[in-house]
Amino acid sequence: MAGGMTGPGHQPELLVLDSAAQAAEAVGRRIGAELAAGRAAVLGLATGATMRPVYAWLAQAGVSLRCATTFNLDEYVGLAPGHPASFAFFMREHLFSRVEHDPCRIFLLDGLAPDLEAEAARYEAAIHAAGGIGLQLLGIGRNGHIGFNEPGAPFNSATRAVTLAPSTRAANQQDFPPGEPVPAQALTVGIGTILRSREIVLLATGPAKAAAVAAALTGPPGPHCPASALRLHPSVLVVCDRDAASGLGPRASEGAE
Ligand code: F6R
Repeated sequence: MAGGMTGPGHQPELLVLDSAAQAAEAVGRRIGAELAAGRAAVLGLATGATMRPVYAWLAQAGVSLRCATTFNLDEYVGLAPGHPASFAFFMREHLFSRVEHDPCRIFLLDGLAPDLEAEAARYEAAIHAAGGIGLQLLGIGRNGHIGFNEPGAPFNSATRAVTLAPSTRAANQQDFPPGEPVPAQALTVGIGTILRSREIVLLATGPAKAAAVAAALTGPPGPHCPASALRLHPSVLVVCDRDAASGLGPRASEGAE
């Protein structure tokens, strides 16, 4: 299948914790370990409600991003970094205003770029120049998206402009002021780029993610479920609370701590 499931399959490691707070802390600790001793880590970062407690944990733990380079996964096309629903704003509010960091090493996609193809190429080149992503943090959409790679996105896709699924726009409407529509397009790091990370940690919490987690880990793999691409990667940790793991059946209790 072109751009589909091609390489050998892998089984992501699964960690199921009792609460969303514990799951977020486990992910925070993993990121903290990556940053320990001032290592020059290259992190791929996500936004969204799932990530808020992770960044809150990092801030209260006093971690430093001083030696880290970070690449955010996505941004809405047409939103300025000062727009309260932009992912640039989210990152400033939840992480960068709260932890020490080097602004020159914080990379964000520019939703206002006049040439989206050139912007995507700039980002890919910057990731390459940084030596690739070391640890990639992911959330998961209710439709199985990772970043803004919606169902149908090729598994070998690079960073690019995409059209958002109606269900994603509906899910994210709550982040926008009343009456303001969610942009139709976004820039996202591609699935192929995500799969070139050294290691991937996906965090899913809440019952609304149970079906997507089950489809990603146990359903038939393929572009209809972008997160199933993670089964092509040899080093993936999926961290869930019990609600998000509830569609996994016996596998979830095997992975439970
Ligand atoms: C955002 C991103 C998205 C979210 C996903 C889940 O940067 O990459 O894939 O991780 O939409 O969002 P929440 O956590 O708000 O449910």
